[in-house]
Amino acid sequence: MVSKIPPDVGPRYPQVVVLVGATGDLARRKLLPGMFHLCNAGFIPGCRIIGVSLDEIDRDRFRDIARSALEEFSTRKVSEADWTAFAQTLDYVPLSAGAAALRAAVEKAEQSFEGESRRLHYMSVPPSAALPAVRMLGEAGLVERSRIVMEKPFGTDRASAVSLNARLHEVFDEDRIFRIDHFLGKEPAQNILAFRFANGLFEPIWNRNFIDHVQIDVPETLALGKRAAFYETVGAFRDMVVTHLFQILAFMAMEPPTALEPAPISEEKNKVFRSMLPINPTDVVRGQYTGYRSEEGINPESDTETFIALKCSIDNWRWAGVPFYLRTGKRLAEGQRIISIAFREPPKSMFPAGSGVGAQGPDHLTFDLADASKMSLSFYGKRPGPGMRLDKLSLQFAMHDTGHIGDVLEAYERLILDAMRGDHTLFTTADGIERLWEVSSPLLEASPPVRLYAPGSWGPNAIHQLIAPQAWRLPFERIWRDPNRLGS
Ligand code: BG6
Repeated sequence: MVSKIPPDVGPRYPQVVVLVGATGDLARRKLLPGMFHLCNAGFIPGCRIIGVSLDEIDRDRFRDIARSALEEFSTRKVSEADWTAFAQTLDYVPLSAGAAALRAAVEKAEQSFEGESRRLHYMSVPPSAALPAVRMLGEAGLVERSRIVMEKPFGTDRASAVSLNARLHEVFDEDRIFRIDHFLGKEPAQNILAFRFANGLFEPIWNRNFIDHVQIDVPETLALGKRAAFYETVGAFRDMVVTHLFQILAFMAMEPPTALEPAPISEEKNKVFRSMLPINPTDVVRGQYTGYRSEEGINPESDTETFIALKCSIDNWRWAGVPFYLRTGKRLAEGQRIISIAFREPPKSMFPAGSGVGAQGPDHLTFDLADASKMSLSFYGKRPGPGMRLDKLSLQFAMHDTGHIGDVLEAYERLILDAMRGDHTLFTTADGIERLWEVSSPLLEASPPVRLYAPGSWGPNAIHQLIAPQAWRLPFERIWRDPNRLGS
């Protein structure tokens, strides 16, 4: 079969992946299926995966776990032949076997390649829990020719992030470290950059003169399942806002970088973070769904938020005075991931009373951050027939329309590939994260108490006061056009 993968998208050398946390939730849901696809589709010139975890299991058991993970979570078909080939790449070393055993397994994997290879250490565990494994990699002499991927949340406040960075730097140089934020690997997140900087149409109005406010809204219907014990120590702000939502905000708000390269992009993102005003606890609504405290693994008096909505501000020339509203939470009414940009209304209306102008809010540009991008631009237009009645209409784009939908890489796939290639563009930096913790500290030091909300709702009622006189864009008044109905 001739590969249709362009030669420059994958790494140059075969890769030995040391996957720490190999039997955990993330590895099973995303990393093993993702690596399967990357290997199987020919993105990587050769790959061996060594699973590592606290579980005392052997290679065959790990292969069984990987197989059932693929069956359950792979979004692509796994044929028997594909599975057999992938299974051959899998090995396992329990953490308790120690540095020498891990080194031996890595060397054995490397010997299976003919020429040079590289190592990718993927820490699929919270960063604080990853440190013993990081030290073990150092002890095993596995730092050379390697890169390391760190998961989130990167610290719980500024002091812990600084200390985490310092301990990581004892073993790995900064240019070897890839702090992952999978939202940045989503196609639509990268599409924000394309949309803003590849077109002359929108950038001139991308500022305080034309934009009234911005919403980044990521409600989830999910409950916590097996992650309850972890989540209880983290909460929605650390799990989603400091990590994903602020990163998306930076793509949305940054100045044009001097080049589409890692350092200039990081610099512009970090300037956004430096311009952010410290978060004022009075601009924050923390919520907890009713029933959370009686779930297994949860403190019956827990003050952990399962929901958060907040207003933040970027105090620079482009954005002064434009509020950014962020919201996310578990067990909400719908699962959505949108960025919605509300434009200012015209200075004066010439339309007769009752025409409907302005009745459905301002014009909006909306990005849907699902794996397959969607975008819509809503505006007022005339309803056909006599008189002048206005309706809210929209122009919509869905990636499904393009015929390229099969080429979409899942966020983790894209980021694993980039880390293997040594490309930092879509990863976060130590400085950026430390600054985000700094702007978060007023909230972390004086968090407002959690308010209860009913599962299946949109969060506590106080969210409406937070955004008034504007309104939350979700739930949508008009639904997205269904791409599957196109042409039918
Ligand atoms: C993870 C959070 O990073 O992102 C989860 O820890 C959350 O709590 C998930 O559910 C959402 O990611 P996605 O890609 O499903 O939107």
